[in-house]
Amino acid sequence: LSSIEVDVSKIEAGQAIKTSWRKQPVFIRNLTADEIKAANSADVSSMRDPQTLAERTQPNKENWLITLGVCTHLGCVPLGAAAGEIKGEFGGYFCPCHGSHYDTAGRIRKGPAPLNLTVPEYSFLNDTVVKIG
Ligand code: FES
Repeated sequence: LSSIEVDVSKIEAGQAIKTSWRKQPVFIRNLTADEIKAANSADVSSMRDPQTLAERTQPNKENWLITLGVCTHLGCVPLGAAAGEIKGEFGGYFCPCHGSHYDTAGRIRKGPAPLNLTVPEYSFLNDTVVKIG
């Protein structure tokens, strides 16, 4: 199967889960209002890989940040999806291999990674089930 369906109804705001798709880790994160605000107030034009939160999420679902859990530097799995893991200086994800910091939209903000965390193809089948792939 090239796609998976994930029930996201139990993921509270501020939480994330890790799943896997095509043998790669995927993070599904329910952003808090503050995390959305932080993502939208950052200066996109100064970013290495400039993208808005809206470009990385779906309309009316901007709280659902769905990305591969694969650092775009050399492919380590960043921290920040599991409870208690450090999220880095920009509150999103932190790759401990060589110190890449991703923000609450999964955008690279500091460290060697060249690109934002990849957003896979996905769609919501209804309010609680997302199909990835
Ligand atoms: Fe993530 Fe190098 S693999 S910073």
